[in-house]
Amino acid sequence: MLFIVKKIPYKQLIKIESKSWLLQKPKPKWAKDIEDGKVIYFESLQFKLSKHEKKLFSPTIIEPHTRNISLNSNGSIKGAIGTEEDIKALKAMIERFRNHAKNLIYSAFPEYKPYLKLAPTSFRPLDVVSRNTSWRADDKRLHVDAFPSRPNYGERILRVFINLNPHGVPRVWRIGEPFENIVERYIEKIKPYSYIYAKLINLLGITKALRSEYDHIMLGLHDAMKSDMQYQKKSPQITIPFKPGAVWICFSDQASHAAMSGQYMMEQTFHLPVAKQYNPKKSPLEILQVKTNKKLT
Ligand code: SIN
Ligand code: FE
Repeated sequence: MLFIVKKIPYKQLIKIESKSWLLQKPKPKWAKDIEDGKVIYFESLQFKLSKHEKKLFSPTIIEPHTRNISLNSNGSIKGAIGTEEDIKALKAMIERFRNHAKNLIYSAFPEYKPYLKLAPTSFRPLDVVSRNTSWRADDKRLHVDAFPSRPNYGERILRVFINLNPHGVPRVWRIGEPFENIVERYIEKIKPYSYIYAKLINLLGITKALRSEYDHIMLGLHDAMKSDMQYQKKSPQITIPFKPGAVWICFSDQASHAAMSGQYMMEQTFHLPVAKQYNPKKSPLEILQVKTNKKLT
């Protein structure tokens, strides 16, 4: 069957020319673009790999049944298997990326800097296509990030990605329609929030904290998008092959995205309070508050 995929009515992907992770003279437009839910990318920021690091690019470096290798801010690493030397090299490589990601975000959006919280840094050596998951965990379907066990009460999720594939394989993403359109499309279909249910799943340890109404709606949008195959195929979207060396950033709780294929990527997440955005009105929290006419947390 032939599906007509609608084009997104505006540019969803913005390119910034820079050879350095430390950006000179940040432009207000970058903050506007990222807070509008666009994806910003850089074609060729330097990330040189040492001889030993190149050997770490194998799926055998990750523990079985694990999705990512992650490095905590205290320097402890999870999910990796290898010799002492390998682990040392792995830590150094991931930490180097973390420092680059910090430089990039701090220099692009200087006003965020004092308020950003750093999450663990991840290295993903597995092939996206071979990942076997339920529809809900399937990141090959367009979605906005919302996590069933980790309520975040509106705090923003800002992510930096780099494709490090040593064999020239791109990381292919789809980028979907603006967040406001997703809200329009699905908000009425999300079942009402239940405080009692939220309390229950918290007591059972299913969530790490009480799921708020905001988190309930975000998860509702995430699930509604992923479970709607017509939407997956026909909604406005673009497909982008991010070549090795490409770096891209977005608010992943707002920018609709899907990872279709690729292998060997690193990712750094930052959390930002809504109030510290350049324009807090552009946050999913504020957009949902306006739409539902309710104070959400
Ligand atoms: C995701 O955040 O949905 C996946 C990103 C990726 O694996 O490229
Ligand atoms: Fe995601």
